[in-house]
Amino acid sequence: MSDADRNPGSAGQGFDLVLFGGTGDLAMRKLLPALYYCHRDSAEFEHSRIIAVARSAQTLEAYLAQVREQVQRFLPAGDFSEDAWQRIAGRIDYQSVDAAKGSGYDGLGALLARHPERVRVYYLATAPDLFVPICEGLAAAGLVTPLSRIVLEKPLGRDLGTARKIIGQVGAIFDESQIFRIDHYLGKETVQNLLALRFGNMLFEPLWRREWIRDVQITLAEKVGVEGRSEFYDRTGALRDMVQSHLLQLLCIVAMEPPASLDPDAVRDEKLKVLRALKPISGSAVGEFTVRGQYRGGAIDGKVVPGYLEEPGMPAGTQTETFVAIRAELGNWRWAGVPFYLRTGKRMPERLAEIVINFRALPHAILPTGLPLLERSNRLVIRLQPDEGVEMHLLAKAPGDEMRLLPVSLNLDFRESFKGRQWDAYERLLIEVVRGRATLFMRRDELEAAWAWIEPILRGWEALDERPKAYTSGTWGPAASSALIARDDLAWHEEL
Ligand code: BG6
Repeated sequence: MSDADRNPGSAGQGFDLVLFGGTGDLAMRKLLPALYYCHRDSAEFEHSRIIAVARSAQTLEAYLAQVREQVQRFLPAGDFSEDAWQRIAGRIDYQSVDAAKGSGYDGLGALLARHPERVRVYYLATAPDLFVPICEGLAAAGLVTPLSRIVLEKPLGRDLGTARKIIGQVGAIFDESQIFRIDHYLGKETVQNLLALRFGNMLFEPLWRREWIRDVQITLAEKVGVEGRSEFYDRTGALRDMVQSHLLQLLCIVAMEPPASLDPDAVRDEKLKVLRALKPISGSAVGEFTVRGQYRGGAIDGKVVPGYLEEPGMPAGTQTETFVAIRAELGNWRWAGVPFYLRTGKRMPERLAEIVINFRALPHAILPTGLPLLERSNRLVIRLQPDEGVEMHLLAKAPGDEMRLLPVSLNLDFRESFKGRQWDAYERLLIEVVRGRATLFMRRDELEAAWAWIEPILRGWEALDERPKAYTSGTWGPAASSALIARDDLAWHEEL
């Protein structure tokens, strides 16, 4: 099927995007700013509508005033223009629906009935326990057409059982080809660049294996805390929020075999093999190969910040983790024996998403080098954010009459090399959904495989029943995280 067949919307008839959770944090912080750019810059959005849906009964004017304020707040300075705003505002409608009670679908139906022939994108930016009620509500109201698509935000479920249940129940209403499971990291320009780096250059492929690579470190660090999302976050925690989705997706892209093409299933088949090759971490191994932490008060950029337990609305003594480090391994020919260290945390000293590939040590040194120098070189750093780029850390001779080596790096700075506005991940993903292209979305079996690996870690933590290790806000996590990697005689990138 060609894109145009799948997508009459992009062929000029427009489409309706129904945004459930239209007043929520994700909508205001990410989706509506992304839609602002889509409507400002893309002709495909010209004949389309956004129907924002939320529980509260309010007028369209009140909703638009709220959106305007938030979009202005979350767009980079200078990007908001009155002209573009008027264009998008004229395409927004608001409808109150109570998904839990199943009311309000008539009103939504009346809005959609104005263009029954259009592609419908139902975007569920809501808590996962509403996914099934919303799908059932849409189906009962007769609003699911063959040209409908459903976009599900992560985390999809709380564990393998709940994920399967949601997947099954949504799958009873929408066909797999209509379901787009979002992991916004897959829409990031630099994650796509990782594919380009690996599969567009011959240089890396021969080295991309256990014979030449000693270890891989993937870090997703954030400076922010829970940002007013206490209720959601405390039910979720870092393992479900970041590892099950973003970290494992990055691991897949780093470790997968070259797919035969960029067709959705070719790519997703390869990612699935990586997930299935992850060695299970269960029982007593959970204490050995994972670290969970929780931030306490400290300072970020010189500003005092509260501890997790002091965040507004936090249940007393809650044990939810805000930091996770894991030593993972893949049981396959390419990667056997290579440790993959995965780490994520809130309230860390920097906002950083980085993949570090450490190559093996020289077999025999003929040049005078000290160990620390060697350890800081022979390394490829792929930075996803901020300052997207790739750095190859090497050793070179210092100028002068002696053979003295110095660490140097070859840098590719994406912003410098490719000038112009960087696309936001959600912007790209929204366009992909509208075009009906599924490569950047997770297939059902991928999601199940990710949960199947996460689940024993969750159970192991429950069985251990230990408090997460405290770490001071503004540090790189608990000391146990350094100890986890030091056991292999290695260190995190920033520790060298
Ligand atoms: C989301 C998580 O999926 O990703 C948030 O729910 C997290 O907790 C966010 O802050 C990080 O995304 P980004 O694009 O800012 O790295």
